[in-house]
Amino acid sequence: MDLPRIFTIRESSHRIHNPLTPDKLAALGRALRLPPGTRVLDLASGSGEMLCTWARDLGFTGTGVDISTVFTEQARARAVELGVADRVEFVHGDAAGHVSGEPVDLAACVGATWIGNGVAGAAELLGRSLRPGGLMLIGEPYWRRTPPDQETAEACHATGPADFLPLPELIEHFGGLGYDVVEMVLADQDSWDRYCAAQWLNLRRWLDRNPDDELAPEVRAELTTEPARYARYMREHLGWGVFALMRR
Ligand SMILES: C[S@@+](CC[C@H](N)C(=O)[O-])C[C@H]1O[C@@H](n2cnc3c(N)ncnc32)[C@H](O)[C@@H]1O
Repeated sequence: MDLPRIFTIRESSHRIHNPLTPDKLAALGRALRLPPGTRVLDLASGSGEMLCTWARDLGFTGTGVDISTVFTEQARARAVELGVADRVEFVHGDAAGHVSGEPVDLAACVGATWIGNGVAGAAELLGRSLRPGGLMLIGEPYWRRTPPDQETAEACHATGPADFLPLPELIEHFGGLGYDVVEMVLADQDSWDRYCAAQWLNLRRWLDRNPDDELAPEVRAELTTEPARYARYMREHLGWGVFALMRR
């Protein structure tokens, strides 16, 4: 059980595996206005930057669960580096179906709603760990511009235009599931670049070091085509945000 290696090659330099910058992530934490001691469950916690920095800056405690051994190790090392290893823990495992033993104040799934087969299932899963009145965070793509055709949608890593909603409709969708949207922090094109463009140098450096690796042809092909594909399609059409939700 692990994340395919191509992901850890592509995002080897990333602490945040989503299109929010450190400033936006910090702004999100502050925007929630939660007290020190807030207990967090972060499903698909990646390299743990959200939990670790919020533990350092806001006094939160909590647990992250992620399927990647590499990212989980990075998260544990980051907790030590930031001096919060006594307040956060990182568990290697499948977050699909993961429910915390004790109810938490803040339950998050940022950039991995597939663990619940989509937004509705992810919200239901997070809700099973949340105390009454707690806050939920869901990170999810939306269409900045609705793709005009199937080719454009696929170039944005969607299976088709119906995979995502425009922002107002996504917010209404959360409402339809029974949640108030009480805050949001959105990526912008510059913060998308920090996520996506930063991957290209990772790919190139890895390729220079590993020319004979079995993944080298795949990495070469991706580096050749990805920058223009990103600029032509994803950067224009795909939005992304983290939405804070409270049950009505
Ligand atoms: C887009 S990244 C987001 C990571 C982190 N939330 C962040 O924003 O930095 C998606 C994460 O989901 C993790 N993941 C994918 N499937 C998973 C699963 N079934 N259970 C736990 N983690 C999973 C990956 O290892 C990766 O860290």
